[in-house]
Amino acid sequence: MTTPHTNTPPTTTPATTTQSGAPVASDEHSLTVGADGATALHDRYLVEKLAQFNRERIPERVVHAKGGGAFGTFRATADVSAYTRAAVFQPGAETETLLRFSSVAGEQGSPDTWRDPRGFALKFYTTEGNYDLVGNNTPVFFIRDGIKFPDFIHSQKRLPGSGLRDADMQWDFWTLSPESAHQVTWLMGDRGLPKSWRHMQGYGSHTYQWINAEGERFWVKYHFASRQGVERLDAADAERIAGSDADMHRRDLHDAIERGDFPTWDVSVQIMPYAEAKDYRFNPFDLTKVWPKADYPRIPLGVLTLDKNPENFFAQIEQATFSPSNTVPGIDLSPDKMLMARVFSYPDAHRYRVGTNHADLPVNAPHAAPRNDYTRDGSARYSFPPASAPNYAPNSFGGPAADPAAAGAGSWQNDGELVRVAATLHAEDDDFGQAGTLYRDVYDEGEKARFTDTLVGQGESITIDEIRERFFIYWTNVDAGLGATLRARVNAAS
Ligand code: HEM
Repeated sequence: MTTPHTNTPPTTTPATTTQSGAPVASDEHSLTVGADGATALHDRYLVEKLAQFNRERIPERVVHAKGGGAFGTFRATADVSAYTRAAVFQPGAETETLLRFSSVAGEQGSPDTWRDPRGFALKFYTTEGNYDLVGNNTPVFFIRDGIKFPDFIHSQKRLPGSGLRDADMQWDFWTLSPESAHQVTWLMGDRGLPKSWRHMQGYGSHTYQWINAEGERFWVKYHFASRQGVERLDAADAERIAGSDADMHRRDLHDAIERGDFPTWDVSVQIMPYAEAKDYRFNPFDLTKVWPKADYPRIPLGVLTLDKNPENFFAQIEQATFSPSNTVPGIDLSPDKMLMARVFSYPDAHRYRVGTNHADLPVNAPHAAPRNDYTRDGSARYSFPPASAPNYAPNSFGGPAADPAAAGAGSWQNDGELVRVAATLHAEDDDFGQAGTLYRDVYDEGEKARFTDTLVGQGESITIDEIRERFFIYWTNVDAGLGATLRARVNAAS
């Protein structure tokens, strides 16, 4: 269970210095007035050590705080140039990547094996700038409008008074938000307890936009199929491991890469021609829905392999910043309300969590493209243009110039008043249909049984009758037989 220390003892020892590079006298003894006298405040090395130590932590991510990641390569193996002109997806392109996995609701030290969706956040260091695909191990999400995200997350975190997590709060939110049913069905099934990060699928989840060299637009969804296979933990094992090896998934990824067993995913996309979105049977930008394969088959895109552990977890994983707003030419957003909220939320979180100049850090800076912009200064600015470079645009001195043709050229038609309503213009814009299909037609008998057992446990943990009644109605709406079984079993147990 112990991960070997990878440091080898050095043959020579360099002199310890202060942060300004001057040699220091001792890491054992403070400067005192006599051997047992008062400590001198002017022991600036002591002060520097203690003060720096007090500032070692930065705020953890407000969600997805516990995670781990590794570097690797994405190889574009297929030709999708008819759909996108993005350099990263042209046939034969090889692009450095960083993939961070995470759980969602727990804090930094929380066990890796709690039931939760898992984050699958990918940074492609492309020749046209960094492209981030910040997805999960599930293809859908709990809500379809970003304005609900803080409330949803509050319901999964801790009660303000006791600081405890609370089933009543979780099920209160879910049962009052019926659009959550599809994702909760995933979560309470085997996908909620992956054996490791290597043994799960990844999804871009949202619908994104691709634009080809002719300016034609397409809607796409990304899929990452694990070559390690999709494997689950038993609920009892997951609970045991939560106590005995809380960092199990972080360790598993690290150790697999150290022994040369490089995790690999086959990447594919579903592609919908631009015009088909309007009359599709449900809103194709609704993040609570999948596009059935029968409607839009998966087209191969490439292969993603992770082969390099971080050298410094804090610098390269904790300070890594992924954002759906980081797109490149040939790839753009879609009218998914969740996605549009996210493109504001992430860079804002990064400025708070890591700092105004988080993009200066080596892990976040573009690796394969130049960065030319007119942003200046700010806390901890590290990169800067040559002194002769003009400081503003437009200018007459050869500074970088914006190129309308270089932008994604992504767009979509919009009309109508400014309103606050759900988009229910398509025939099958419902909450429960795909959740029922997942339960009835995708889960085999074993998974159905485990899923039902999990829900019985969940139902029993609800202490408020009104919420428990809504729990039964919620699952009856997913599947009448399932709802009846849960009502009978939960009531029998209580
Ligand atoms: C992390 C907000 C929906 C996947 C985060 C963070 C915020 C956030 C603020 C922390 C960022 C940081 O500190 O670096 C939101 C909002 C959402 C939303 C406002 C809805 C409007 C989603 C969805 C997915 C997702 C739908 C997946 C499909 C992730 C992942 C991370 C994350 C994987 C961790 C990124 C990393 O590893 O650094 N989210 N989120 N989020 N979110 Fe979301």
